[in-house]
Amino acid sequence: MKSPVQPLRIGILALGWTLVCLGSWLAGCSIDEALPSAWVLGPTSKERLAQGTQDPKAAEQEILRALESLFGTATAPHWPLGDSQPEGAKVLAQAAQTYREECSHCHGLEGYGNGPSSQFIQPKPWNFALGVFPRSAPDGSEPKLPALVTLLENGIASSSMPHFARLGKPVLMGVAGHVLLLLKRTQVETKLVDAYLQGGPGSLTPERVEGILETWSAGPQSLAQPGR
Ligand code: HEC
Repeated sequence: MKSPVQPLRIGILALGWTLVCLGSWLAGCSIDEALPSAWVLGPTSKERLAQGTQDPKAAEQEILRALESLFGTATAPHWPLGDSQPEGAKVLAQAAQTYREECSHCHGLEGYGNGPSSQFIQPKPWNFALGVFPRSAPDGSEPKLPALVTLLENGIASSSMPHFARLGKPVLMGVAGHVLLLLKRTQVETKLVDAYLQGGPGSLTPERVEGILETWSAGPQSLAQPGR
C-alpha cells in the first residue's frame, strides 16, 4: 500500500527545487543588471567637450551616435565595415558578454581602465585607449591577437591582472578580439571629438564620420594616442 506521506514528500521536493531554480535565476538577473550595459565617452573626451562646447551633453550624444553607427553597442558590437553575418554577430556578442563579466569591473566597459574595482588597485588596470600594450606588444606597435591570448592565459604576476586559462583558448580569442575592438573604438572616439570641436553641432554627418574612419583605416601610424 502506498504511504499517504509520499505525494506530500514529492510536493515539498518539487516546491524546494522550484525555489532553488527561481533563486538562481533571480541571482543571475541581478548580477547581470549590476553590470553596465551602455558605452559612454571616456573621461578625457568628456573633459574636452565640457571645456570646448556650449552644450557638452548634446555633443556627447552626437559623438555616441556616430560611434554606435561604426561599432554597434556594448552588448551587440560590430567592426566598422565588417561583414554582418549572423554567426559573426553572435560570436562578437558572446565575447562582449565575457568581457563585461570578467574584465569590465577593472578595465571599464569601454576599456579606459576605470571600472569600479580600479580605485582599489595598484598598479591601475591598463587603459586600452593609450594605444600601447607594453606586455603583449613591447615594441609599441598594436598588439596581435596571439600575444594577447597568451597574456590572458598567464595574467600579469606583478599586478592584480588575473590569469584566465580556465576560460579556454576559443573564448580568450574572442575576448582578445573585443580588446582590439575597444582599442579601435577609443581611437576613433578621440578623432570624433577633434572633429566635433572643430565643426560644432551637426558636423558629424555620415560622410564626415566615414572620412574619419578612412584615415584611421590607413594604418597603425594614423592611430591617435590620447594621454601619451
Ligand atoms: C582585478 C582587476 C583586473 C581584471 C579583472 C582584469 N584585468 Fe587586465 N589588467 C589589470 C591590471 C592591474 C593591469 C596592468 C598591469 C600593469 O600595469 O602592469 C592589466 C593589464 C591588462 C592588459 C595590458 C597588457 C599589455 O599588453 O600591456 C590587457 C590587454 C588586459 N589587462 C586585458 C584584460 C582582459 C581582457 C580581462 C578580462 C578577461 C582583464 N584584463 C581582467 C587588472 C585586471
